[in-house]
Amino acid sequence: MKDIILTGDRPTGNLHLGHYVGSIKNRLKLQNEGSYEKFYIMIADTQALTDNADRVDKVKNNIIQVAIDYLSAGIDPEKVTIFIQSLVPELFEMTSYFMNLVSVSRLQRNPTIKDEIKQRGFEKSIPIGFLNYPVSQAADILAFGTTIVPAGEDQLPMLEQAREIVASFNHTYSPKIPVFAMPKALLPEESICRRLPGLDGKVKMSKSAGNAIYLCDDEKTIKEKIMSAYTDPDHIRVSDPGKIEGNIVFAYLDAFCENRHFEKYLPEYKNLDELKAHYQKGGLGDVKVKLFLNNIIQELLAPIREKRAYLLNHINDIYTMLFENSKKASKEASIILSHMKDEMGLDYKKLLK
Ligand code: TRP
Repeated sequence: MKDIILTGDRPTGNLHLGHYVGSIKNRLKLQNEGSYEKFYIMIADTQALTDNADRVDKVKNNIIQVAIDYLSAGIDPEKVTIFIQSLVPELFEMTSYFMNLVSVSRLQRNPTIKDEIKQRGFEKSIPIGFLNYPVSQAADILAFGTTIVPAGEDQLPMLEQAREIVASFNHTYSPKIPVFAMPKALLPEESICRRLPGLDGKVKMSKSAGNAIYLCDDEKTIKEKIMSAYTDPDHIRVSDPGKIEGNIVFAYLDAFCENRHFEKYLPEYKNLDELKAHYQKGGLGDVKVKLFLNNIIQELLAPIREKRAYLLNHINDIYTMLFENSKKASKEASIILSHMKDEMGLDYKKLLK
């Protein structure tokens, strides 16, 4: 059986390099290999509202931004169904039944939820919808028979929750014909890409922390951000030995640099190991390493930016594509939803003789 792939992003802002290495790169790889049955990418507007209830316009306006980010990064709408979560009501019906299979304390133990509650200052009062979003996300995944979810590390607890719901559903309703596939996460191979740190040295690049390079940033902004990235605070003079650990510039080189980049931009070195060794020994300045990184990131983002400029003139077509795909996704989700209800015994049609 070929895989069914589904993943998604909240439309609360533009996508950044953390999204790129954490998930988009794997999506492009899967898309280009082409050996799947179906491939969905969901713009999770309803999930975004769980902590933006009073900012509907922000969420709504970012749907097109995220869609443009996908398309400009190379996601092909002929190969991948990109759709909008709130336009697939089957997901919320499914969520209602799943909510009976998950306890409040289980959700409160979800490590990603725990972090996000802290970040958002929700400790005293958590919106129910926010606490419940892992259950809703399980429906996003399970409603399509998803087998693979390409995502960053922070999504692992959500996958775990979805798998528990499948087990609990099977235990509670003993379906005669299995309803759900067991979804698996697909993480990036390199650990640095699973959770890309922020420019300021914080553990995660994120829009809320303001430490991100966006796919849509212009050339000047990218350079300014890279030149101000956190390195080794004790590496003051060029001759000082420098530390690699915790040094964001080297972290990004781990994530983005390939040997061919040395040939093109820094031929005095063969590879990253040589560059690191020189930095650690002393005699290599931050500026030189940052300019090298800048070349690599500019090379990656320039074509994406050009495509974005073209797409900005085709917004109507993109909305049309999103709305049509959402209808299609809704039809597809209704198949598993109705099978699920039958297996639960909610088969009221059978009562009519
Ligand atoms: N939680 C994801 C994020 O914060 C978005 C998302 C919603 C998602 N539903 C999903 C990701 C289903 C993968 C699968 O970006």
